[in-house]
Amino acid sequence: MTQSGSYDVNAIRREFPILKKSINGYPLVYLDSAASAQKPLSVIEAQREYEAHFHSNIHRGVHTLATQATEAFESVRTKIADHINAAQREEIIFTSGTTDGINLVAGTWGRANLNEEDTIVLSRLEHHSNIVPWQILATEKRFKIEVIELNEDGSLDESSLNEKLALNPKMVAISHVSNTLGTVNDVKRITALAHSVGATVIVDGSQAVPHKTIDVTDIDCDFYVASGHKMYGPSGIGFLYGKHSLLEQMPPWRGGGEMIASVSFEEPTTFNIPPYKFEAGTPHLSGVVGLGAAIDWLNSVGLEKIAAHEKSLIEYASGELMKIDGMKLIGTAPAKASVISFLVEGIHPSDIGTLLDGLGIAVRTGHHCTEPIMTKLGIPGTVRASFAAYSTKAEVDALVAGVNRAVKLLR
Ligand code: ALA
Repeated sequence: MTQSGSYDVNAIRREFPILKKSINGYPLVYLDSAASAQKPLSVIEAQREYEAHFHSNIHRGVHTLATQATEAFESVRTKIADHINAAQREEIIFTSGTTDGINLVAGTWGRANLNEEDTIVLSRLEHHSNIVPWQILATEKRFKIEVIELNEDGSLDESSLNEKLALNPKMVAISHVSNTLGTVNDVKRITALAHSVGATVIVDGSQAVPHKTIDVTDIDCDFYVASGHKMYGPSGIGFLYGKHSLLEQMPPWRGGGEMIASVSFEEPTTFNIPPYKFEAGTPHLSGVVGLGAAIDWLNSVGLEKIAAHEKSLIEYASGELMKIDGMKLIGTAPAKASVISFLVEGIHPSDIGTLLDGLGIAVRTGHHCTEPIMTKLGIPGTVRASFAAYSTKAEVDALVAGVNRAVKLLR
């Protein structure tokens, strides 16, 4: 798949300096983009340019650099709002990433709204970052956490979904795309069902944003969270989308500079308006600029084209892997994106990962921060290959050859 239609993967690869690397004497085959995607030169350069020529603190100074830095920062807020079709730019809060965004919602909306008589609903697909913040809050507020179970193929069990929604939960927290199984959840439909029983909905979009066009207005979710480093941008930066009416009602998150309207020892301290109410302290400024460049890069290639390229790779890889004796794909839901998880009978996943690394092939092994999936399936973990805009058919072939070698050497 050097080139399909107008999709020139070799031209795309040339934009990613790290892909020229050799690892252990072999050309790097990077199949771990679900853990963190690599960055195109335009993102690396945008951050460097900002640090070299425009850096200052934002919202705080009248001098020229402060104004330029503030404009650069705030323009990315607008860019994200446009990119995910938010109704207004004030609905975008900069966070350090998906984990931070979910902790923000749990720590503000959750702490203000969830009590002993309440139930919230998660799915078994969730990453630990969409489980543990709720569990920590539940120990304090004593609400119940119910879990939507999975079908054998890793899709959500419809009867379990209906059963849990019948409990009239106050919150439904659901991943858009599973980082471990690749299952794509119909979050628009789930949101409509959750709203019909009065639940507020948060969607973990960290694995969806690099692979799909996101339209939060169409989904109608109340919150949507994502991380920059999964979408070809910097780490340590991400965003939370929240409906403005909810953000207005929510108490502040972290206390500090810029999130206040007025601070006093004599009168009650008052707080800024959203989004600033939730952005205490100096943010990761070059990260925001890099995230803006990443969105420009995604749009320059086109998310639909990237999705089609990745889909064809996943289909090809699934077919080739299944030719290996003892191969079991973990997660075969009809709607699937981005990752292939697998096990090979008689070989521990981490042994396969180590052998592949010796061949320059980067995959993730283990529970992928989704232990509840592993518990349910009764497996220690999986080998996970994940795909991105720059992945190639030749890399799939290298993976398959590497796994075949593991089978010969390790079984
Ligand atoms: N959540 C990331 C992954 O799936 C780190 O690998």
